[in-house]
Amino acid sequence: MVNIGLLGFGTVGQGLAHILNNKSEATPLKDINIKKILVRNLEKERKVKVSKDKLTLNPQEIMEDKEIDIIVEVTGDVDLSYRLVKEALNNKKHVVTANKALVSKHFEELSLLAEENDVYFLYEASVAGGIPILKPLKDQIRVNNISRLRGILNGTCNYILTKMTDEGLDYGQALREAQGLGYAEADPSSDVKGLDTLRKLRILSTLAFGSAIREEDIICHGIDKLLALDIKLLKEREMVIKLIGEVVEVDGGYQAIVQPKAFKDGSYFTMIREAYNTVSIEGDFSGVLNFYGPGAGMYPTANAVLTDIIDCVMNIQDKKNPLGNRKLENKNEDIRGKYYIRISNWKDYEVDLGGVIEEKVFEDDKDFAIITKEVRLSDILNILEGVENLALVNLED
Ligand code: NAP
Ligand code: HSE
Repeated sequence: MVNIGLLGFGTVGQGLAHILNNKSEATPLKDINIKKILVRNLEKERKVKVSKDKLTLNPQEIMEDKEIDIIVEVTGDVDLSYRLVKEALNNKKHVVTANKALVSKHFEELSLLAEENDVYFLYEASVAGGIPILKPLKDQIRVNNISRLRGILNGTCNYILTKMTDEGLDYGQALREAQGLGYAEADPSSDVKGLDTLRKLRILSTLAFGSAIREEDIICHGIDKLLALDIKLLKEREMVIKLIGEVVEVDGGYQAIVQPKAFKDGSYFTMIREAYNTVSIEGDFSGVLNFYGPGAGMYPTANAVLTDIIDCVMNIQDKKNPLGNRKLENKNEDIRGKYYIRISNWKDYEVDLGGVIEEKVFEDDKDFAIITKEVRLSDILNILEGVENLALVNLED
């Protein structure tokens, strides 16, 4: 029997318990036992029932239990989980986590610590929810140089954008629905402001490029400032907006950005709807590989956590630190493209877009929208400095 100490019993933790309860005859699941569960509130009503004596408020009850072999961390709390995950790895317990905020913040340190202690540190569910992407990516980088990686990496944002585009739903209502379906983070501003996508891009790009690409190396624009007007104006041009995380290799360096991007309706990224995600990887031998599936939600995410647990139980992944030590220069200053820009209350600002306008798209007393010529993003950001209510959407070629 393999004993798990489960940290957290919310959407993902309960999904895991449900799958184990319902597959208790299957090998090797029948040998996996959730021994103790850390929560904040012992009295909370939960969809998945477990005996009360499994629940604890005291993490040390789990950490100091010598019969627990694997710590599964699904709290979402970064400070607590950092302390507990380090303690677990140092005590030679395997760690499986879905917490991208934790992995993103402490990726190098925890990867190295796991190797030093000859235990697993696995985090498949931390990126793109239910899509198996990190294990395949670790395989691909053994053969390929990855020159570009991009994806729709946040289920909540993709759900909101799909509902606004297809059903004309209001932003707030679409966000509430995503929360009700268990897709959003405890603080959904990290979804809509692009932070969650940024953390996933940080993990993917650091693995794919063999070089530490940290949160502060990635430009980040979310979807929180987009209006129904932006979606409508681009829809009239047969374009659909998606929140995209993207990293590309450019001579000796890389560019990394999270931004709303408009694609021709009917093209690949526009087919990814609701809480589905996709990750597209370009390798020199593999060509373009597209991974697609549910990006959030109880069972898809718990399923991804469980595949990591099984790998620990069966001892079938490499315990070696998968992170490379290339030094690549950040070239975000050179990012160029065409952009859709909408400024609200535009008469309050003295913004000189004169030199960059390719086409005026909309103007009334309140809103003013244009499409730019091909420009440097940093120049546009300089021009728009101080403007509060605006949309900036990159247009795919
Ligand atoms: P959740 O529903 O909010 O559940 C969090 C659980 O952790 C709750 O049971 C909570 O206890 C417990 N917890 C939180 N902070 C704690 C603390 N300081 N001490 C003790 N217990 C604590 O979150 P979730 O949606 O399951 O997400 C968990 C993790 O998986 C997050 O890192 C998230 O980013 C990641 N993830 C989620 C999804 C998804 O679709 N939901 C997908 C991929 C990855 P109480 O129940 O007592 O409050
Ligand atoms: N809040 C995240 C999302 C959960 O919506 O994608 C999955 O990582």
